[in-house]
Amino acid sequence: MTDRELSELAKRRGFFFGSNGVYGGTAGFYTFGPQGAALKRNLEDAWRDRFTLRQGNSEIEAPTVMPEAVFEASGHLDGFDDMLVECATCGESHRADHLIEDATDIEEAESLPVAEVEELIREHDLACPTCGAELAGEPVEEFNLMFETTIGPGSGQSGYLRPETAQGIFVEFPRLKEYARNQLPFGVTQIGPAYRNEISPRRGIIRVREFTQAELEKFVDPERDDPPIGEVADVELTLYPVDEQQAEDGDYVDVTVGDAIEDGTVESAWVGYYLGLAKRWFRRIGVDLDRLRFRQHLPGERAHYAADCWDAEAELAGNWIEIAGFSTRSDYDLRKHEEHSGEAFTVFRQYDEPKTVERATVDPDMSVLGPEFGGDAGEVATALESLAGRDPSAFDSEEVTVEVDGEEYTVDTDVANFEVETVTEAGEHVRPHVIEPSFGVGRIVYTVLEHAYREDAVDGESRTYLALEPELAPTDVAVFPLVSNDDRLTSLSAEVSAELRAEGLSVTTDDSGSIGRRYRRQDEIGTPFCVTVDRDGIEGDGKETVTLRERDTAAQVRLPVDALAAELSALSTGGRTFVDLENAYESVETDVSRT
Ligand code: GAP
Repeated sequence: MTDRELSELAKRRGFFFGSNGVYGGTAGFYTFGPQGAALKRNLEDAWRDRFTLRQGNSEIEAPTVMPEAVFEASGHLDGFDDMLVECATCGESHRADHLIEDATDIEEAESLPVAEVEELIREHDLACPTCGAELAGEPVEEFNLMFETTIGPGSGQSGYLRPETAQGIFVEFPRLKEYARNQLPFGVTQIGPAYRNEISPRRGIIRVREFTQAELEKFVDPERDDPPIGEVADVELTLYPVDEQQAEDGDYVDVTVGDAIEDGTVESAWVGYYLGLAKRWFRRIGVDLDRLRFRQHLPGERAHYAADCWDAEAELAGNWIEIAGFSTRSDYDLRKHEEHSGEAFTVFRQYDEPKTVERATVDPDMSVLGPEFGGDAGEVATALESLAGRDPSAFDSEEVTVEVDGEEYTVDTDVANFEVETVTEAGEHVRPHVIEPSFGVGRIVYTVLEHAYREDAVDGESRTYLALEPELAPTDVAVFPLVSNDDRLTSLSAEVSAELRAEGLSVTTDDSGSIGRRYRRQDEIGTPFCVTVDRDGIEGDGKETVTLRERDTAAQVRLPVDALAAELSALSTGGRTFVDLENAYESVETDVSRT
């Protein structure tokens, strides 16, 4: 299925479409319609179930606008750039690395230095995709992807729309660790919007300027905490490590999580653990596992905060697209926020046994430092304290020198009152490391739709349908009166619908057009079950009955109305299969042929 076909189906059936169409549309912004919003919500719930609830993590919801200081500290102001080349003829901006990838065999051009990208544009005579003018000689610039805004009226305070949900978790670490009772490891998740002013948004909801991320930040003690690898050790992964990507005849490595960690293909056991969990979750939500791989980032491709990163990539219309990333962020973010805010981003780690240690201290005599150094005396005292901790031997001679703001200050060692004390310590402050599984919800919605698309024929008529997992399907069940002008059928349909809704199922009703057309409409949006209320079901002398049809096989059974709600609930939770129902109730003949 091509991108265009999927986008057309998505628009026709209310999954997603470009926003603000009445004003000509706004590139990079999409609205999820009734089907898409329901599918996306179900997908988020499935993610929350797997990565928050079942993992014992907690979820927060932070603001999407954050002050400049956050991004100065996180490094996004300096390092969150893409390569932009502007056409001198039509003025259109393009992502230089994408132009190269489209025109050559180079796969990850964003990992190349700017000068090499400029050279490749020259070498391959690349032209502007909009007007066809030559781009050779045009400068390639680093373009920061964050949307800037002003907080408050007037000149206000400079702020940015967050480019990742993660920062909303990191900046609150000092409080979040209290909620976790200062015990590592602990995980915090967030599902919400992120914003990137993409140079050239493309491929529908795959590259947009506002999108939803589902992120988990797992805070671990790098020396003590190991993941429960046993839970996923036998999960098979298709890996594409850096050395295979760089080799002439490089290939995928099919290996279990346990072996990949053991032989070092995946260096971090935590990352390996989450790759295993993610693979199982992707299967649960209906991603085609033959079209899924995990690719390690090339060194030049990693984000400024990442020590290592593996992407989950799905094959979509012949291209491999990143749908989730698994990074080891080390203590980068917590250290940066500690340095910039002055707050402690550490956790107190108790020793097994208290330790007796020697600690060098100073107690500078301010009645001497004050007159000598004036306004700088306080900073000189702080510098002496820091030096005592770092290098006690500096106090061995009669004088000691410290540097403050590039200037040297020399002090008599006696004035510093240097001492070495023996103290008993119960523990130490450690800065946790962060492991981050980060999922792009829109891209996964797209993948699930593309991988669920099927064509076949029912009763000699061709149809297309979405084989969505019932857990994700926007609607659980559609209820049809066979004809709309029979009050007995329409009123029983209404009763059945109300009863199914009371059971917690999402129900739609449809009484227009032939029953075949109504089935096709539901097939196309992936509704797993349809119920038809017909005269046979109300005219017998026994209980009222309806037919229940399964989407993928188009198989039908006739069952009593009073059994319907319980059977549908059991089908949607996996407690029952449709074959169980075919064995329990009267089957209705249908002919399905796969094409
Ligand atoms: N906190 C880590 C982080 O933001 P990322 O790889 O930049 O990592 C995570 O983003 C996920 O967000 C990606 O795997 C992708 O699925 C999704 N994503 C990133 N940029 C996107 C965009 N412009 N449009 C849609 N989804 C995007």
